[in-house]
Amino acid sequence: MHRVLSGIQPSGDPHIGNYLGAWLRWVGEQVPGHFFCIVDQHAITVPYDPADLRQRTVDLATWLLAAGLDPEVCTLFVQSQVREHTELAWNLNCVATMGELARMTQFKEKSEGRESVSVGLFDYPVLQAADILLYQAEQVPIGADQRQHVELTRDLAARFNHRFGDTFTLPQPTFPAVGARVMDLQLVDKKMSKSLGPAGTLLLNDDEATTRKKLLRAVTDSGSQVRAEPDKPGVTNLLDLFAAVTGATVPELEDRYSGKGYGDFKGDLAEAVNGVLRPLRERHAELSDDPEAVTDILRLGATRAREVATTTMQTVRERLGFLR
Ligand code: AMP
Ligand code: TRP
Repeated sequence: MHRVLSGIQPSGDPHIGNYLGAWLRWVGEQVPGHFFCIVDQHAITVPYDPADLRQRTVDLATWLLAAGLDPEVCTLFVQSQVREHTELAWNLNCVATMGELARMTQFKEKSEGRESVSVGLFDYPVLQAADILLYQAEQVPIGADQRQHVELTRDLAARFNHRFGDTFTLPQPTFPAVGARVMDLQLVDKKMSKSLGPAGTLLLNDDEATTRKKLLRAVTDSGSQVRAEPDKPGVTNLLDLFAAVTGATVPELEDRYSGKGYGDFKGDLAEAVNGVLRPLRERHAELSDDPEAVTDILRLGATRAREVATTTMQTVRERLGFLR
């Protein structure tokens, strides 16, 4: 059994890219050694509203449970409920260097153009390293944009082990299968993202009519053939999405729509997407009726996570020369 840790920020509304590109894989591969951490302490590195954060944290947990994460199998918990994360982050701060953090491209992107940048935003990757190393995770499923942070985590773990004695497992990043990237419906060369406008993003909490409208208005290319071709990025993305939600291959779909227009194609795609999201949305609505049940699951998850985290921290405290 592999120890696995995944982290996800409770910021922005979840969209179909999160579901198809990340959660489905998490759900399919969940085993008892899997830890899923909702990283609320990472979400406070940029300006935010506390009431909003609390609500989003519960809502994200609700979506993950609706998607099929089973708290009887894996451990779903909230970062701030396990204080060892910030404790270890401080210790790792004294191992990390300013130079290596200044090289992080996500920091450069996120801090660019801001009038004021928090120390927390700069230190964000060290907290992420703590998330991973506390659980001695062997595998960390991530999107490509997080590769540098997991590399840093490995460097910090190796440096700590070298300086203070063997303490941490070095984690391996794992990536989704090719084609698991869902593109924006309007800006067709960009990955669908919470930071882009709503028209191109299929939100899980949109109603079916909204999903349909967004798909019917999705950018297509000149011509009228439903074919995946390099000069037809819009249609190609829609074919990839259609394939992802139905299991059909792109050539099969090209055959099915040969001679038909974009209208028919998009209408059927909307039906397929809504069909896949319907049970997920229904389950989310059911679970939302009883938010206390969700927060109970999170509390239980934190208890289970803490068992592992405190064991690691005992070793860390010992190695660093702190009194018992
Ligand atoms: P984010 O919402 O960007 O923090 O991403 C959370 C998770 O969803 C990460 O594991 C991403 O790899 C995945 N993800 C985000 N956007 C997409 C997308 N457009 N297509 C596929 N996967 C995505
Ligand atoms: N930084 C990650 C992201 O933006 C979220 C994250 C925090 C994470 N801690 C983690 C991902 C630990 C994997 C492992 O997507």
